[in-house]
Amino acid sequence: MWFVERRKYVQEENYVYETLYTLANGRLSLRGVDEFSNYKMPGTYVAGIYDKHDAQVTELVNLPDPLGISIYVDGEPLLLDKSTIKSYMRALDMKNGTLNSSIVLELTNGKLIQLDSQRFVSRSNLNRFGIIYKITPLNFSGKIFIENYIDNTTYNGKLDPANKIQHYAVLKTGEMMPGLFSLVKTYDKGHLIAIRTALKGYDSKGENILRYRKYRLIGNNPSEIYTVFIREGETFTLEKYGAIVTSRHSSEPLKDADANVGIYFAEGVEEELKRHTEIVNKTWELMDIQIDGDETAQLGIRFNLFHLYQCASDDPTVSIGARGLHGEGYKGHVFWDTEIFMFPFFLYTLPKYAKNLLLYRYNTLPGARKNAHQNGFKGAQFPWESADDGTEVTPKWGEDYLGNPVRIWTGDEEYHINADIAVSLVHYHIVTSDDDFMRDYGVEMLLEIGRFWASRVEYNERNDRYEINRVIGPDEFHEHVNNNVYTNYLAKWNLLKSREYYYWLREKYPDKFEVLKYYLGLTDEEVESWKAIAEKIYIPKKEDELLIEQFEGYFQLEEHEITEWDENGLPKWPKTVDLTRLGETKLIKQPDVVMLMLVLPEEFTKEEMRVNYEYYEKRTMHKSSLSPSMYSIMGLKIGDTHNAYRYFLQTVLVDLEDNQGNTNNGFHAASAGGAWQCVVNGFGGMCLEKNGELNFEPWLPEHWKSLSFRINFKGVPLKVTVTKEKLCIETRVEMPVKVRGNRFDLRPGKNYFELVG
Ligand code: BGC
Repeated sequence: MWFVERRKYVQEENYVYETLYTLANGRLSLRGVDEFSNYKMPGTYVAGIYDKHDAQVTELVNLPDPLGISIYVDGEPLLLDKSTIKSYMRALDMKNGTLNSSIVLELTNGKLIQLDSQRFVSRSNLNRFGIIYKITPLNFSGKIFIENYIDNTTYNGKLDPANKIQHYAVLKTGEMMPGLFSLVKTYDKGHLIAIRTALKGYDSKGENILRYRKYRLIGNNPSEIYTVFIREGETFTLEKYGAIVTSRHSSEPLKDADANVGIYFAEGVEEELKRHTEIVNKTWELMDIQIDGDETAQLGIRFNLFHLYQCASDDPTVSIGARGLHGEGYKGHVFWDTEIFMFPFFLYTLPKYAKNLLLYRYNTLPGARKNAHQNGFKGAQFPWESADDGTEVTPKWGEDYLGNPVRIWTGDEEYHINADIAVSLVHYHIVTSDDDFMRDYGVEMLLEIGRFWASRVEYNERNDRYEINRVIGPDEFHEHVNNNVYTNYLAKWNLLKSREYYYWLREKYPDKFEVLKYYLGLTDEEVESWKAIAEKIYIPKKEDELLIEQFEGYFQLEEHEITEWDENGLPKWPKTVDLTRLGETKLIKQPDVVMLMLVLPEEFTKEEMRVNYEYYEKRTMHKSSLSPSMYSIMGLKIGDTHNAYRYFLQTVLVDLEDNQGNTNNGFHAASAGGAWQCVVNGFGGMCLEKNGELNFEPWLPEHWKSLSFRINFKGVPLKVTVTKEKLCIETRVEMPVKVRGNRFDLRPGKNYFELVG
């Protein structure tokens, strides 16, 4: 279960497959376009290369496409859309991180040619990619032409024509030894991007077959054309070498790209491929999840983990956008998706990337301070949508479900992102015990966010309480609401945590504490005031009632019952609802109260969870891919096991089955993180308790024989295996854990716990 295969070429499905087949190494990403198709949406992205220019807001730039290649037989280009496809197979090999294909095409004159290929974007050298083609003429010998080119006509907004834009100017193009180059520059930020590609071709005896090279500039596209003589039944190899170097990583991108390709060409593509696959294989040893008894779930979960890993970067100045590096959905912007949905996967399996995700927030702290200042608040206000510098980049205008223009308020009102970041900081500290990180970066962020909340709350004198009014909670159907429980509860929690870490730093690192206190101009009085505020933050929750009102006035809204579901099991709009007035109904887009109970599970009882799950689940439209996974986990916590599996499948298959209908625009990275949480926190039943210990309460679907996953907890790798009868936790060192609430001390080796009875 390592391959995502496509066995039939259907043009209309190309854009979705391009997302599924994207290859990326955290820095460079190439959408999985089929280079022998005319129907494609090339996407070349480099993490952190954002630009605004004439676009609505700053966005991830679609760079020139380096994959250009054409093969002409008797003047006719090999094209999936024109030639007869005799056989077709493309597959993402997730184990090795390559995209493979094998096709046989028949040209209009009856000539048959077999084309096999293997593509990768190197994890070893982050600027490189490579493709190895094996080409066999099946029933003819003769002369063909092979063209290598760089397409400098790419642009953003192919799926969104109103926002179509090219973000770069072509500065220079030309030929080099070997191959071609383009040097482009983004309009606003002035990022330089150098693209180099080169071909090597040889026959079965290793003889060079690329002859009579001609260099041409076609429009703005540099192109080289070779004449090749081929013989029936004989396979020849074509290797494409590529490097993309930007001014984010080099002061002389073109020179470095050139040097890079020179060495790469001399070493040979196979060497790079070997190094790349070794790294990917090794990473699987840390992150793989095995599900025995459910092939769909097995393939699905690997698909999600693979693509999350592809987005993970060694660069602490970039994070992961809502659609990964896989497309232009949400303009490459970073949301709470990263901290609340994706982060736990990295935290427990690949913690160095988790740290980088937090460092990205640290590196964008100046922008967040600016936001707070501009909006009349103190401290740092992280943006609802973030790009390269932490300032708010949420577009102001979008479309409603009927296509009408609407003002987007999330950038003005969805404040909870700040507490979400605080939650991930505290989790990071508990799970990794990385005091150095907290000392150098974490506490500063917590203090600045604490300050923000203290300035954002409003004192209501009549009721002697602090309120947070005019906000949007996770459920975005309801705007300008007062006292959203998710926001208020987390703000309260956040203020107390910020205070706690202030004293933690004073205690542990007095010198650093003094510096930070001075630098931020903080006083004990200010920090103490956070406690006073937190104690009086209004939580709209009645003492004697378990059901929590999502925000003030929610219970008075119109009721519309969901009675129909589509073929993916997702709710259809009730016929009675006016889609332009969703805010007047009790329908919600995604979990909100339930979300709070998942983010801070230690704060709520099982009974509270059950009551709120049962109430809100019925009213949730799942209009965000972030939704089903959370209901799956909550379902498992409270014993709604049937729905939990259904929601899990909707989550793992969101892209493989395109069940939200927008996979063409990128990979659903938050849903992928949610998929990991479904397996580990849901079926594996792992929960981080208030005292910082792990508790396991696993439950497996009927047909699952076993589930196993690895995690890293406080620097100790643990292997967890669950069957219907037993839970096994393998460890190297002694460690306390709980199983179904009972405390045990793990001993080095395998520890078994009976689950039956
Ligand atoms: C969801 C948000 C999410 C965003 C990006 C929206 O539709 O409501 O919760 O952060 O998409 O994925």
